[in-house]
Amino acid sequence: MGKGFFITLEGCEGSGKSTQLKMLEEYLKKSGKSFIFTREPGGTPIAEEIRKIILDGKNVEMEDETEALLYASARAQHIKEKIIPSKNQGKIVICDRYIDSSFAYQAYARGLGMEFIKGINVYAVQNCMPDLTLFFDISPEEAFKRKGGADKDDRLEQSGLEFHKRVYLGYKKLAEEYSDRIAVIDARQSADKVFESVIEILRKREII
Ligand code: TYD
Repeated sequence: MGKGFFITLEGCEGSGKSTQLKMLEEYLKKSGKSFIFTREPGGTPIAEEIRKIILDGKNVEMEDETEALLYASARAQHIKEKIIPSKNQGKIVICDRYIDSSFAYQAYARGLGMEFIKGINVYAVQNCMPDLTLFFDISPEEAFKRKGGADKDDRLEQSGLEFHKRVYLGYKKLAEEYSDRIAVIDARQSADKVFESVIEILRKREII
């Protein structure tokens, strides 16, 4: 049985994360490695239900604290039901967003602060931090331009450019603070070039 790894992908909306996830899935399928792809908020039936509440465009009255606690609740379910068991089976677990999203979006951008977000997430993560986090580094201005504007149905994307700029600054601070864990990838490059960087990082860490 191989050694399990827990890898998370982070970045602002439109950072090209989804494209990289698809490319990585194709690559890992061919490599014969044992892996799973999952996402936050979500990843299990209960956590996906919580996701619907958080991302529902109707829920404009949701308090920032409520939102942060819901992300943490979804995470608590996800980590216990799926991430830890899969990692213990020796799988490479690849998760689209995780706790750094709560740090960047809730602690920094919403202004709830790191102490509060770390505090509630102690109960959620059960000491299970990622072995590696890939941060796709592109500013929201550039990402929005590339994506062609915001998606009307998504409450979070309506929060505007200023919010996303704060998210981005949050990520930059996290990347500095947790430089051992967070690998910064220049996401302004072509998808193929970005993917080359992803593979290089995974090889260096002897994950693939
Ligand atoms: P999603 O549509 O999956 O966005 P993306 O394709 O950009 O990953 O929606 C997830 C949204 O949830 C995204 O706007 C980031 C936000 N989020 C938080 O604010 N905090 C969190 O802890 C997590 C996991 C996600």
